[in-house]
Amino acid sequence: MRNFPKDFKWGVATSSYQIEGGNNNADWALWEEKKGLDKAGNACGSYEKYIEDIELLKKINVNSYRFSLEWSRIEPNEGDWNIEAIEHYKDMIKRLKIENIEPFVTLFHFTLPQWVSREKGFENKKIIEYFKRYVGFVVENLGSDVNFWITINEPEIYSTLGYITGEWPPGRRNSYIKYFKVIRNLEIAHIQSYKRINELYKKYGWSKPSISISKNNTDIVGKDFISKLYVWFLKYIFSYSYLNRVRNYIDFIGLNIYFYSEIVFDPFSKGNFLFRTLSLHNFDKQDIINWDINPKSMYNIVMDIHNRYKKDIYITENGLSDIKDTRKSKYIKDNLEYLLKAIDKGAHVKGYFHWSMIDNFEWIEGFKPKFGIAFINNNGERVLKKSGKYYSNIIKNNSL
Ligand code: FCB
Repeated sequence: MRNFPKDFKWGVATSSYQIEGGNNNADWALWEEKKGLDKAGNACGSYEKYIEDIELLKKINVNSYRFSLEWSRIEPNEGDWNIEAIEHYKDMIKRLKIENIEPFVTLFHFTLPQWVSREKGFENKKIIEYFKRYVGFVVENLGSDVNFWITINEPEIYSTLGYITGEWPPGRRNSYIKYFKVIRNLEIAHIQSYKRINELYKKYGWSKPSISISKNNTDIVGKDFISKLYVWFLKYIFSYSYLNRVRNYIDFIGLNIYFYSEIVFDPFSKGNFLFRTLSLHNFDKQDIINWDINPKSMYNIVMDIHNRYKKDIYITENGLSDIKDTRKSKYIKDNLEYLLKAIDKGAHVKGYFHWSMIDNFEWIEGFKPKFGIAFINNNGERVLKKSGKYYSNIIKNNSL
């Protein structure tokens, strides 16, 4: 038996658009329509069934829950604050606190109100003011019960899929200049929100909150000299540059850990530009989305970030799409083993949030991937999977 640190935060993670349902004012609702994708629709119905979600959280034994607020619900039109929505989140947070479940509240998890996207979203500098105003409104209303804020989820994934591959809204392809503009605005939006949140906590005499972002870092390995150089460049752009710019405005680092990849320099292979990603037969894959995974990535990424920044770390997402739920328990065990190893080596890891509490809407892949440790049965009830029971036991014992 190996124990996790005392007061370790154990949780699961979700995001509003992926579970709530009925978010018709979000840019993603238009995107699904335009691209003929699966529709999030009622998703997991969590906006209505949040009390059942809390019952599920209790079954999982978590002491923390990471979820996001839906900006498009709170401010469906500019300056038009939806009081019912903010009361809803207030009630949810109060109920979590009653159950001793610490809320980790994400403010932006990929979806924008349509009125913001009509004004070009994060391409437009104006969003910084819009975002700050939204954050201010939310914090004034919810701040007294929240100690942990995550302003922005995965800035590089958001910008890459929206402005380089074009798979996500606003669907721009190879727009490198816009990519950097968006990243820059996401940095400033974070920094300004960080300052604003702290100001408001001071003003109301609430104890100082912990604020950060959630970063998706990839464990990527170059197999030859040229690809090693390329990996160095990629890591700079996707793993460190955002963190470097916001490092004085974060109280911890949130890491979302999912992928592993190996590349080789291969300028003559068809369909690749200079580098080829190796097919890894000796590693597991995520169902449906086919991302390669390697449990050791947990250790590699955590140690890399620990050595560079020496800050507290929370794993704010880590999970496996596993339709049959036959591999997920082992995935959890392997990842937690490597996390313990990193803790033994001195990394200040304060918590782990499994993605996800429940099978949900996985963006362009729709409902096919199954990241949940629970599912919704035919009677609409939330049911723990085998992996969910396995995880809840680990939490109960605070050990592996
Ligand atoms: C992460 C996202 C989350 C979910 C998981 C599978 O990159 O933050 O919303 O889609 O991947």
